[in-house]
Amino acid sequence: MDYKEHITIVKDYPQPGIRFKDITTLMQDGEAYHQAIQDMAVYAKQQNVDVIVGPEARGFVVGCPIAVSLGIGFVPVRKSGKLPREVVEADYGLEYGKDRLAIHKDAIKPGQRVLITDDLLATGGTIEATIHLIEELGGVVVGLAFMIELGYLDGRDRLGDYDIFTLTKYE
Ligand code: PRP
Repeated sequence: MDYKEHITIVKDYPQPGIRFKDITTLMQDGEAYHQAIQDMAVYAKQQNVDVIVGPEARGFVVGCPIAVSLGIGFVPVRKSGKLPREVVEADYGLEYGKDRLAIHKDAIKPGQRVLITDDLLATGGTIEATIHLIEELGGVVVGLAFMIELGYLDGRDRLGDYDIFTLTKYE
């Protein structure tokens, strides 16, 4: 499937000069959303994944349906202060300033094979912090799966040797 046909580019959002990649038009098309999740689930199966981790909020709409389709668990990574039990946290850089992500301390068991999912790989900062959290808990990150990669932001370089799967890429 040509996923770009289902992704809408919104000019000058959220600020002038940015061409925002909107996946809501892909999601509202049942056939396209289903195919996207199936393609990513095939990759997850190849990587022999035990559990899926996704950062809020768009990492949920990608990771949860893959987990359900494979009959495995999903673990949310959330902004600091949103999870109710004991957490580990990691700082990550934003364009202006920084923020903090958190995961429940008991969510990943040592040695579990983890796939991280998100809608978009941009600078890679969100995923770098997510990897840090999983590895701190003893998980093994066996793959990173995104609907979209923005090649011109070099997130892939920042993420080093981790295996990366993307449905579509913008140069
Ligand atoms: C967006 C996107 C990715 C991240 C990619 O999320 O969904 O998670 O940015 O950027 P990066 O590779 O430069 O880190 P955002 O932080 O806007 O959160 P949201 O999904 O809750 O809107």
